[in-house]
Amino acid sequence: MSGATVAESGSAFDADVKSQFPLLRRSVHGHPIVYLDSAASSQKPDAVLDAMDDYYRCVNANVHRGAYQIAAEATERMERARSDVARFIAAPSAREIIFTKNATEAMNLIARSWGGTNLGPGDAVVLTEMEHHANIVPWHILAAERGFEIRWIPITADGHLDLADLDRLLDGAKLLSVTAMSNVLGTLNPVPRLAAAAHDAGALCAVDASQYVPHLPTDVGALGADFLVFTGHKMCGPTGVGVLWGRSELLEAMPPFLGGGEMILDVTKEGFRPNELPHKFEAGTPPIAEIVGLGAAVRYLEHIGMESVRSHEVSLTGYALRTLTERHGTDITVHGPSEPAERGGVLSFVYRDVHPHDISQVLDQSGVCVRAGHHCAKPLMRCLGVSATTRASLYVYNDTSDIDSLADALDEVGALFGY
Ligand code: ALA
Repeated sequence: MSGATVAESGSAFDADVKSQFPLLRRSVHGHPIVYLDSAASSQKPDAVLDAMDDYYRCVNANVHRGAYQIAAEATERMERARSDVARFIAAPSAREIIFTKNATEAMNLIARSWGGTNLGPGDAVVLTEMEHHANIVPWHILAAERGFEIRWIPITADGHLDLADLDRLLDGAKLLSVTAMSNVLGTLNPVPRLAAAAHDAGALCAVDASQYVPHLPTDVGALGADFLVFTGHKMCGPTGVGVLWGRSELLEAMPPFLGGGEMILDVTKEGFRPNELPHKFEAGTPPIAEIVGLGAAVRYLEHIGMESVRSHEVSLTGYALRTLTERHGTDITVHGPSEPAERGGVLSFVYRDVHPHDISQVLDQSGVCVRAGHHCAKPLMRCLGVSATTRASLYVYNDTSDIDSLADALDEVGALFGY
């Protein structure tokens, strides 16, 4: 991490963060890798890789069942991770932490289990135009089966939610389901205000925090959420594990999502009795090593400090917005809020009329990894009037040199396409 960034952020950020991520030592096409796609998936530090490796080498056994030493140790490591995750988001109880495959599965769990028992004709679910498909398609599927209405909070030209009609949209709704931070615009939404408005209207509030939990200190109570979902692989953890947090009284009243082993207290030929929380929602052998890795990721981020993670990203986002504007002027348009304090480090941009896939391929020749496409947010793309954007996204291991490399590589795009 460069001295400039540390000084700008004013934090006690560990200057060696980048060196703790082994993948960032490799080269691509003869250039040191510049990884700017953390909104899609983050890199993993040694601490996480070592925790998973140690689990498999020294502890590996199935959890919650075996009456032998290593089975007890495996269970202890998995349940420690559950407590780590609960602490990380200030959940009142680890019983409220449900491990899923990813955030998408967690949102589908809410839709199927809560939505399947609480939504029907005459009801409404309120979404926003900046949602990821994971917070749209489960509701479309369920609405087609159960006949409720989906309403949409629009966005403004500068990438904020337009809340002028919020009360009308919430009138008679049973759920507001909203992203805490847009994976395209970087917009940080006013979740406490939205949740309070939902509650005043008699609705619950579910939060897609996939882009939020990895980047900001998270307190589910302060957010006012009733449900919150996120995924491990965007927060230095492995793929294959996500989290549903829900208020225990809601989770206790909800039917199981998947059936099988572990989620029952008893099974007869006539039926079954579901297990207690959290096991009621964790059918089958869980992704134990991945959960252990997620626990290590939580402890890694806590060691850095989430306030420091956030201040580093505000500083670096400001540097990126200034640098891209100074270096590329009117050739580049960055979508979303212009104030770093109102956004995360997700920079979706249009560069002249060059197609995002072409931009991404040219940047790759310089070792710069960015994402091009609709980012699983097609309704938002339609609002922006584009089919795709190029997206650079930042995390703890990025520094000002990565932004400079992006700006340099964009010069190559300009040269190649004749600007
Ligand atoms: N949802 C991930 C993204 O925004 C994959 O890129």
